[in-house]
Amino acid sequence: MQKRTIASSSLQVAPLVFGGNVFGWTADEATSFSILDAFVDAGLEFIDTADVYSAWVPGHQGGESETIIGKWLKKSGKRDKVVLATKVGMLAARKGLSGGNIQTAVEDSLRRLQTDCVDVYFSHLDDADTPLAETLGAYQRLIEVGKVRVIGASNYSGARVEEALLVAQQYGLPKYQLIQPEYNLYDRAAFESDLEPVAQAHRLGVVTYYSLASGFLSGKYRSGADLGKSARGSRVEKYLNERGIRILKALDEVAGRHDSAPATVSLAWLIARPSVTAPIASATSVEQLKSLTAAVHLTLSDADIRQLNDASA
Ligand SMILES: NC(=O)c1ccc[n+]([C@@H]2O[C@H](COP(=O)([O-])OP(=O)(O)OC[C@H]3O[C@@H](n4cnc5c(N)ncnc54)[C@H](OP(=O)(O)O)[C@@H]3O)[C@@H](O)[C@H]2O)c1
Repeated sequence: MQKRTIASSSLQVAPLVFGGNVFGWTADEATSFSILDAFVDAGLEFIDTADVYSAWVPGHQGGESETIIGKWLKKSGKRDKVVLATKVGMLAARKGLSGGNIQTAVEDSLRRLQTDCVDVYFSHLDDADTPLAETLGAYQRLIEVGKVRVIGASNYSGARVEEALLVAQQYGLPKYQLIQPEYNLYDRAAFESDLEPVAQAHRLGVVTYYSLASGFLSGKYRSGADLGKSARGSRVEKYLNERGIRILKALDEVAGRHDSAPATVSLAWLIARPSVTAPIASATSVEQLKSLTAAVHLTLSDADIRQLNDASA
């Protein structure tokens, strides 16, 4: 497995990121620890979380995912084996990207994560009310004192990423090295038409979220009767249409040729795309995780990729 460098940073990562929104939500603490151990044992290192995970669960406030990761880091002693990403801007109590908010939010995240440095700090959402120079200035101070290594932008439009890069250049501030957009075999149009050309023009890293379309691309949802299979079922309903079924059929066929699984093939398709550094995906068991990590060892042929592209056109 060849490691990939994130843009012009010194960060080298395997081409698969583990998505931490499951920790404390659909994976309890013990399961989360086993998944994290298995992920690192498979030779992978990049873990993505956010301060807001998992505030959408009744009774949660956010910070649950970071807290579990922090406990695991402390217990396992594996901090040096991990590239850790978290995000600021969406937690109700720490909303937006003002300098003061970033400064407070990072301390909260570092405390929960039980570490002194976030490897990749993402702006979770664009904040039109805060000048980009203020946000980047706050990140600069965190980079200078060693609390953050690299910064990234999630859910920005292509135009706003370009604006942020320009502001960074004009004012001598750190630039976003990577972006985190929604992108998968089903949801293609927004990324391909807007952010992908910007990422390629500026050689930005790209880590994609909802890489399995919330589990739909694992193939376990084939009809409305399957929606009860997970707490995420309601998020998947929108994929159960003619195009979705056509994509699953192509995934089944490609997976059959490689003695693989639809989830693995979906991620391998993302890994093969030149603009993508690594897909982010999550799992709720060590068994599921195996189908994710297998993707870093699966090379699709040109014919496989053509078939998947045609099915999702
Ligand atoms: N920047 C942002 O705004 C943003 C937004 C969303 C997500 N993210 C990031 O991206 C990550 C990935 O997104 P996601 O976790 O929501 O969605 P995802 O990776 O598209 O879907 C993962 C889910 O699919 C199911 N699954 C995985 N492997 C499977 C298998 N082999 N067989 C059957 N089911 C399987 C599991 O859920 P069940 O077992 O419950 O079915 C798993 O939690 C998040 O954890 C987060 O880090 C970022």
